[in-house]
Parts: sequence; structure tokens; C-alpha cells
Amino acid sequence: MSTFHLDPKSLGATSRANPTPQPIRRLTIPAIRRRKEAGITAQPIVMLTAYTARQAQLLDEHCDILLVGDSLGQVIYGLPSTIPVTLEMMEAHAAAVVRGSWHAVVVVDMPFGSYETSPEQAFAAAARLLKASGAAAVKLEGGEAMAPTVRFLVERGIPVMGHVGLTPQAVNVLGGYGARGRSDAEAAKIVGDARALDEAGAFAIVVEGVLEPIAIAATEAVSCPVIGIGASARCDGQVLVTEDMLGLFERVPRFVKRYADLGPTISDAVGRYAAEVRERSFPAEETIYRPAE
Ligand code: KIV
Repeated sequence: MSTFHLDPKSLGATSRANPTPQPIRRLTIPAIRRRKEAGITAQPIVMLTAYTARQAQLLDEHCDILLVGDSLGQVIYGLPSTIPVTLEMMEAHAAAVVRGSWHAVVVVDMPFGSYETSPEQAFAAAARLLKASGAAAVKLEGGEAMAPTVRFLVERGIPVMGHVGLTPQAVNVLGGYGARGRSDAEAAKIVGDARALDEAGAFAIVVEGVLEPIAIAATEAVSCPVIGIGASARCDGQVLVTEDMLGLFERVPRFVKRYADLGPTISDAVGRYAAEVRERSFPAEETIYRPAE
């Protein structure tokens, strides 16, 4: 069901704040942040990844946030991890997603190597991403160590979504993509990381791949919304990689629910096309141009 309504008053009225009127007013970062008040989120936040304009068009009306995740490295480019993803890739895909959406907030991932050295490096990369794409905010991975960077960006006008728990850009340190927080020390660190990002001004935090009690503890420990993936239904919102939930891969992590099975659907359609080309039954009468009679 759609979560927004067409506001006739906003149509056709130009202003400096709204130079090109859109049919629907886009959600804002403060509106997302306000979803959680005094620890309660009455309306959970719906977030999915999007990498292309057409995908964004199809997801937009159902989502509060479209995340241009650096998972595009694996999903779109067939890379072995998110580590090789570049700023150029993120810019291009974020711009496509902004063009294909009109309602959801678009958040773009900062790729590995573009923000860790210093707050100044992070600001330059984040500003570049937002200028090139029109996205509203960036997401970066890391907890307490990244808190000064988060504060630096927020104080300079760049909204930041944090990401703690299983942080895929740190796969070489973590040693894999298994669930995090199995020891007391690691559990305490994940909750402490979320708290540090919250205090630094993150407007929301993704908590990925953690044992459920840790996800609940992190959600309760911070004032901003916590968006879970492989976490808990008690988080303030949820995110999945769209291709995972649509069934485009044979294998998905345990935390993914497949809402469709598009892989076999595509394979079947392409198989029928290939057969018709080979037997010369495509194109047929209804799909060819004839000279005028
Ligand atoms: O890159 C990504 O898609 C993400 C989500 C899985 C949260 O970071």
C-alpha cells in the first residue's frame, strides 16, 4: 500500500525551494529521524537497495529510503566484495536512482577508501557524491572510530547514516560475513558503536548481521532510528538487498526472505525467446513493420 498522497497544492507552484515542481514531495532526513520519538517508532522505516533508475521507479512508492548500497559491486558488477567499489560507480548509480524516484529519501554508500583517512577526506568524498547525484545523505561503515567523522560531516551539512555490526567493507579484518556479537565483548562493542554514532549526530544507523538481543539492545540504546538487516523485527526499520528478496540469486543469507522468485522467471522468458529466434518464429506478424498498403 502506498505510504504517501498526491498533494494538489504542491503541483505547478514554483519557488526557489521548489524550482521544478514534482508531483509528490520527497521525504526528508528530519522526517525520517522524527519517526523515532522518545524511543518509540510507530511507523517502521522501509528501506531497500536500488542501483538503477527503473528499479528506483518500481520501489519508490513503497519505500521510505532507497539505499544506493555499495553492494552494487557484487550485485551489478560481479565483484567478489564491496572493496573495489569506486566513487565514480557510486556517483553514477546514485544519480540514476535519484532520477528514478520522487518520494523516497535517497541515501548513498561511501565506498571503501573514500572516507576513513580523515574527516576532511570524508567531507570531500561525501560532498562529491551528493553534488553529482542529488542524493540527500551518505552512509558509512564503522562505529566509535568513525564518530568524529560523522560529527564533522553533520556539522557541515551532510546527513550521515551509520552502519555497525557486520560491516562488509571490513571483511578482511572480520574474516567473513558471519553474524557478529557472539562474545560479550563484541556485543558490548556493537552497542557502544551505535551509541557513539548516535551521539555524533547520525540520523539513523544500520545494524547488520548481529544476534537478535544485540539488535534490540542497540535499538533501545540510541535515540535515532536503527534499521536492521539480519537483526530483529524490533528495530525501527528494515533493509534488504532488493535482488536478494526478489529471488535473483540461488543462495541468500539466512536473514533474507524471498518475496518473489524472479531468477527462474527470467530464465524461463529468455529460454522461450532463444527458442523462438532459433526456430524463426520471432519476430512474427504482430511485431514487424510492413510497408504501407
Ligand atoms: O551495501 C548495502 O547494500 C548495504 C545494505 C546491505 C545495508 O549496506
